[in-house]
Amino acid sequence: MSVTLPEKILQYLDSKGKGDSLLLADEWKEDSQKIVGAIKSLEALGNVIAVEQYTRKQWELTAEGKLVAEKGSHEAVVYNAVPDKGIPQPELMKAPNAKVGFSKAMSAGWIVMDKSSGQPIIKKKVASIDDVVQINLSQLQKGVDKISDEQKQEYKKRKLLQEVVVKGFHLSKGPEFNLSISKPETDLTPEMIAQGTWKSKQFKEYNLGALGVPPPCGHLHPLLKVRAEFRQIFLEMGFTEMPTNNYVESSFWNFDALFQPQQHPARDAHDTFFLSDPKESSNFPMDYLEKVKTVHSKGGHGSQGYGYDWKIGEAQKNLLRTHSTAVSARMLHKLAKEGFRPVKYFSIDRVFRNETLDATHLAEFHQVEGVIADYDLGLSGLIGVLYEFFKKLGIEKLYFKPAYNPYTEPSMEIFSYHEGLKKWIEIGNSGMFRPEMLLPMGLPENVNIYGWGLSLERPTMIKYGINNIRDLVGPKVDLQMVHDSPICRLDKDDDQAEEQQPLSAVNALEKEWDNITKRIEKLQATVKSLQSKLGVPQQTSADCGKFDVTIFADPMHPPHSIITLINMLDEKIGVRKSSHCHSSLKLRPDHLKTIFDHQSSDKPPNNSVTVIWKSVGTNLEMVVSPVANVKVTGEVNVLRYLSRVLEAKSPDFNWYERLPAEQSSQIDYWLDKAHNAMLKSDTQSLLKTLDQQLINRKFIIGNDLSPADIFVVSVLSNLNLKLPRNVDKWYKQCTQLRLSILGKK
Ligand code: PHE
Repeated sequence: MSVTLPEKILQYLDSKGKGDSLLLADEWKEDSQKIVGAIKSLEALGNVIAVEQYTRKQWELTAEGKLVAEKGSHEAVVYNAVPDKGIPQPELMKAPNAKVGFSKAMSAGWIVMDKSSGQPIIKKKVASIDDVVQINLSQLQKGVDKISDEQKQEYKKRKLLQEVVVKGFHLSKGPEFNLSISKPETDLTPEMIAQGTWKSKQFKEYNLGALGVPPPCGHLHPLLKVRAEFRQIFLEMGFTEMPTNNYVESSFWNFDALFQPQQHPARDAHDTFFLSDPKESSNFPMDYLEKVKTVHSKGGHGSQGYGYDWKIGEAQKNLLRTHSTAVSARMLHKLAKEGFRPVKYFSIDRVFRNETLDATHLAEFHQVEGVIADYDLGLSGLIGVLYEFFKKLGIEKLYFKPAYNPYTEPSMEIFSYHEGLKKWIEIGNSGMFRPEMLLPMGLPENVNIYGWGLSLERPTMIKYGINNIRDLVGPKVDLQMVHDSPICRLDKDDDQAEEQQPLSAVNALEKEWDNITKRIEKLQATVKSLQSKLGVPQQTSADCGKFDVTIFADPMHPPHSIITLINMLDEKIGVRKSSHCHSSLKLRPDHLKTIFDHQSSDKPPNNSVTVIWKSVGTNLEMVVSPVANVKVTGEVNVLRYLSRVLEAKSPDFNWYERLPAEQSSQIDYWLDKAHNAMLKSDTQSLLKTLDQQLINRKFIIGNDLSPADIFVVSVLSNLNLKLPRNVDKWYKQCTQLRLSILGKK
């Protein structure tokens, strides 16, 4: 039997006592890696041999160096290529490496150039040469190093030599040295036990640090992992899952059943995907449908309804459901039919919206929705449930902001405090379903129902640190990402340290988002300034197609500027105006009725403004597109928006952004100034500078009325102030103008 390499090493150490792995490799003409392998296997036996690692620097030939050792240096090759009678230079230069070889041979004085015949001819200058480079390199290759340090540096420069670090092992006998290699057993077998041989065997130690073999298995997509976690939370809280296996829904269940009026902008093809085939649904519970029709058109159950002509055709239109609340509506109707009992329902599934796609929005996403129905529920109970629910997600600091949904009242947006960003971020929407939705279903009067919803994508992106939705959903998803994403454990009951990681992921996401927003704003500003330089009229999103907004304002803080603007708009382009009183309002704003309560249904439906009087204080809010959740807040910003609309919709009317840049920025300056004065309730300095500004001017910006006049008057008219002379004159003039604008209607 041939001797194995480990055995050979043992025998060597037995006779010599000591050894060196590199020398052994040389001596035995073995690959040094094989020697290392044999040493490692001997080491694994315990203390049979003693091993000590060392490193050493060593010179080695490069590939080019090896070529030189074999064939001669480049200069010698050139010299040898020159015949005794000489050779034209171009011909000599054809050989590989001739350029280096030629200049080296010239400077060594081995060859000369003869130009006497006109053409450069190369001739030998010496009869014979010693190719020292070749000799040195080939000796080094054989292990004989006679090269001076200077020469080594030169060869290194010529890329013929390189210095490498080699690892070697000093070997000697260990305390348990012996010549026979006995492999320790890895398994205890029944035979060993039966025969008793285990007593004399050596067993291999457990390697507790070894990694296990990854089990071959499928991998859930992160969205599914987070969904499983949400489902678990709902189940723990005693909820039942609703059947959500219908992406296609009728407008009836998606909107009408939810008391969403048929003219609501969310029911527009810009926001909703409608189906062309099958275009319509026809199978409705007709008695219920009649009740829905009545509550929309005439009201009932203490509600005025919307007072419009409800059409079944609109309700029949099929669509891809825009929210999972459509499923909740079906389930609540079913519950009413079966006979009411308290229930807790949830769903987590896909919904579709015709939205502008960007880094965080797709046209389809998943909603997580919870519904609780019971007798005599109140808002505080909903807040309690939401605290409990989000606590299970590891979110404890919540804040609720009044909001508006057609189907809930009150409604609350849910914010959570972000420790990393030190600010509140929106995480969901919630509310108590309206009687206009529940009573037509036949639910008892004293039943109240909570509902809340959030997206599945946002927490998933935060959890897995994904900052572009296209990396999570769609054709660009990397399967490796799915493979590598760890199990989802939402950080329930976690301590500070564990929170750090997901927080920094949110941080990154929010930062990225801020960057995108900033870039867009910058681009818009550039476009705007270019357009104004070129004299291109400014466009707003409102100048193409429909203009349809809902404004929430408080009758205790009447936004005079907005009402004036709406009437100006009406005068110029025709606007369908309507106003409603929110049920939360104790005092009916009769004094405002005269100003703004014409139900102007003779107007074309292209432009419409709905004012909802509600106790919002000075936090006036305008909803431009309820589905995309585009909101403009604050009187001054709503005024800016409406001023742009007015300009965009009437081509001959330049009074804000179409004015020369300098004037429009002055308007903005005065808007900001008045807004600040309003916020700080400090009008003294405003009045002073305004008085200065109005010397020799009819209006704040020269001789024409601008949004600045309208807003500043509005701010001043809510306070009872003694006005300086110029201001007083201007104020009276504006008020007259305003009354004439209002009077015209
Ligand atoms: N459907 C709402 C949305 O689309 C969420 C919600 C559900 C709000 C239930 C209130 C009640 O955001």
